[in-house]
Amino acid sequence: MPRVEPQAPPANLNYSTPMAVLPILHVGHPNLRTRASEVPMADLLGPELQQFIDDLVETMHHANGAGLAATQVDRHVRICAIEVKNNPRYPYKPNIPLTVLVNPVLTPIGDARFDNYEGCLSVPNLRGLVKRHAELRVTGWDREGRPLDRIVRGITAGTFQHEVDHLDGKLFLDRVEDSRTLATLDQWKEHHEAGFIENVRAVVARYGS
Ligand code: NI
Repeated sequence: MPRVEPQAPPANLNYSTPMAVLPILHVGHPNLRTRASEVPMADLLGPELQQFIDDLVETMHHANGAGLAATQVDRHVRICAIEVKNNPRYPYKPNIPLTVLVNPVLTPIGDARFDNYEGCLSVPNLRGLVKRHAELRVTGWDREGRPLDRIVRGITAGTFQHEVDHLDGKLFLDRVEDSRTLATLDQWKEHHEAGFIENVRAVVARYGS
């Protein structure tokens, strides 16, 4: 067999950097407790942060996350990604189209809260029950720096609160009011999932997501 030598790309072609899967910090790493900094518009629109956003989304997909905050990959800028598309980690979650939030601000609407059983890529193999606002206004920018302003409700609102908490150095563990609700994933499936799915149905029926 003749040997085929790989050909170097022509020097005048500008290849974009391929996306990368970044390492995710786990609970106990002090940097998860850092408050991320606001992103200046000029930085956001530069190639370096755009590449980082691609990598953040790629890492979220690779890990089957429903969301991923920059803090979790040890980058302390106020950027997070959210997407739920028939997620195997959270099969009961209503779908959310891919959303990149830059400098997000969450403003609760009303006082209603609901119980949400949460997990986190930075807290492997654990679920715990937290209270989340049922309705929020989300403002900030998208990845192109366009203003973003939307209302989110129900389980989806819970996902947004979880991700923005990361940017403030908070983990869902900090919001667990009753440590007896903590469960490893297999114990959660065995003892808590069925009851929680009933709760999810009620939340979705009430808030539409
Ligand atoms: Ni998380």
